[in-house]
Amino acid sequence: MPGSSKQVAFATSNKGKIEEARIVLSPFGIAVRPFNGKGLEIQAETVSEVAAFSAKVASRTYRRALIVEDAGLFIESLHGFPGPFSSYSYKTLGIGGLLSLLDGTRSRRASFKSAVAYCDPAGEPRVFEGLVTGMISRSPSGANGFGFDPVFVPSGSRRSMGQLTLEEKCEVSHRGEALRKFAAWYTESNTGQLF
Ligand code: IMP
Repeated sequence: MPGSSKQVAFATSNKGKIEEARIVLSPFGIAVRPFNGKGLEIQAETVSEVAAFSAKVASRTYRRALIVEDAGLFIESLHGFPGPFSSYSYKTLGIGGLLSLLDGTRSRRASFKSAVAYCDPAGEPRVFEGLVTGMISRSPSGANGFGFDPVFVPSGSRRSMGQLTLEEKCEVSHRGEALRKFAAWYTESNTGQLF
């Protein structure tokens, strides 16, 4: 990317995450290099534990510095479900199944959490977290973003994340916040320089 002074490898197979990382990190002069490593995830209670563990294993396995991001949807009335099981729930229940679980429930409050973990082959992971609160809508709307975006309405918005442009989503989203925290640290650190 012209004008970049740094780059970072992003280990993910999710194209939506790559696009969002580019939107958030390019104003910091950080170019995102997609890196498709395999078999990196564990099951754990928090997105931070998953991201930290995955980043550490991946950085050692592939002998390179990189970031990994883990995210989850936490629904209050379901005691935080799907949380760490968001990916599995999306594949199995889907949006329709998730909405059915909320039939008849009063509170539709929910939040998305994101953790971005950076690790180099000789170091320990650094984790940056982000959170967005909102509501689960009664029906899906919008075709932007990915995953549960069509049914998640951020606090203060009248539109679902599926109806926001990616730039608008990144301004309010869990991932946008976590990536901006990472970028603030990374721009100050000595890693990732392009010579
Ligand atoms: P992952 O394990 O970080 O890939 O995320 C788990 C699941 O949470 C994904 O499969 C999506 O269904 C959902 N998810 C994570 N982040 C987002 C988001 O920004 N928008 C909508 N759904 C998301």
